[in-house]
Amino acid sequence: MSLTRKAYRAAILHSIGDPADVGIDASYEYFADGLLVVEDGKISAVGHAEALLPTLPGDLIIEQYTDALITPGFIDTHIHLPQTGMIGSYGEQLLDWLNTYTFPFESQFADKAHADEVADIFIKELLRNGTTTALVFGSVHPESVNAFFEAAEKLDLRMIAGKVMMDRNAPDYLVDTAQSSYTDSKALIERWHGKGRLHYAVTPRFAPTSTPEQLTVAGQLLAEYPDVYMQTHISENLKEIEWVKALFPERKGYLDVYDHYQLLGERSVFAHGVHLCDAECARLAETGSAVSFCPTSNFFLGSGLFNLPMAEKHKLNVGLGTDVGGGTSFSLLQTLNEAYKVMQLQGARLSPFKSLYLATLGGARALRLEDKVGSLQAGSDADFLVLDYNATPLLSYRIKQSKSIEETLFVLTTLGDDRTVQATYAAGAKVHQR
Ligand code: GUN
Ligand code: ZN
Repeated sequence: MSLTRKAYRAAILHSIGDPADVGIDASYEYFADGLLVVEDGKISAVGHAEALLPTLPGDLIIEQYTDALITPGFIDTHIHLPQTGMIGSYGEQLLDWLNTYTFPFESQFADKAHADEVADIFIKELLRNGTTTALVFGSVHPESVNAFFEAAEKLDLRMIAGKVMMDRNAPDYLVDTAQSSYTDSKALIERWHGKGRLHYAVTPRFAPTSTPEQLTVAGQLLAEYPDVYMQTHISENLKEIEWVKALFPERKGYLDVYDHYQLLGERSVFAHGVHLCDAECARLAETGSAVSFCPTSNFFLGSGLFNLPMAEKHKLNVGLGTDVGGGTSFSLLQTLNEAYKVMQLQGARLSPFKSLYLATLGGARALRLEDKVGSLQAGSDADFLVLDYNATPLLSYRIKQSKSIEETLFVLTTLGDDRTVQATYAAGAKVHQR
């Protein structure tokens, strides 16, 4: 078998641990003049160019990027494909926002042609922003997930998605039933899960829109297919939490509803968790579940401030999510900009290296994919980015003042956005060039 081998020379930075566990200095590797070697879609080596070059064949093709930083591709642990066209919808908090904008908007995805069109826009937007892996909500219609996976498969992307399950408390035109959601989800799992780099996520929207019967079949699907994911929302908004208590009075709290239906586990990702209590964080951590921290959405929908220090105290896996269209940007750099402010408002800090971790390796760990994505370690999928220090005049000027990679990284997460992403590579192929 002939190998396709290519190398990329630039400054290179990646996370190798959570700063909360290993300390900041041991949490990353940085090569000011680095080399990333890619063979057949996987990373075969990363290190100092000077050390690696003598070990490689003289005719190796090397692509050099100056004034640029190579990082792993970003990982978005929570986003809604069918909300792409309603991002930035005015004036409401969660429950009214769902009824006023979201549900009517998502109804369009019964039409496969429409789903195909949006899936194409959505994937281009992910890649423009440097997101190479995402955990994606479709709509209630299987068409939305088929459209997404068909488009992702063409580019050989590592993506996870699922059809929303919702059989109550939503308009008649948008609900399924416990039985149809089981049958449709099962068919999608059989068709897509494990195909290329694609994975399926069982996707009950949130407790209020599923009957106990539907939550039961969601648990049943996870039992039948132990390596599929589960994604849902939790404790995002105070009125939502009160509603869950009224709908499930027999349960101890919001998380206990999901726990009762056996939806917690190592491949379960709960979006938001803004108002989780200590005991709920402990239970999430104990079951290996993860939370997706969605700061732009939590600000935009007025939901509240996620307590990252509490999650860290419990060693809970946390990834970063854009939550588009409740969130206001596809960019994980912009999402980190807001994450920093969430911490500031709580009198806490978000170090630049913790930010890098959240957008890459932390997301990979939340998704149990850390042996495949999230870092540039040898053996990983070659999903990586080239971030351009000269993307805008202000970024360029500001980075010229920087005295360390830490400062440069912080400025990238403060001023950076889609313009900063010069190129995006997935499985070694360039899938976006600015
Ligand atoms: N809770 C239930 N559905 C949704 C949704 O679509 N977006 C957000 N942000 N929260 C939800
Ligand atoms: Zn969401």
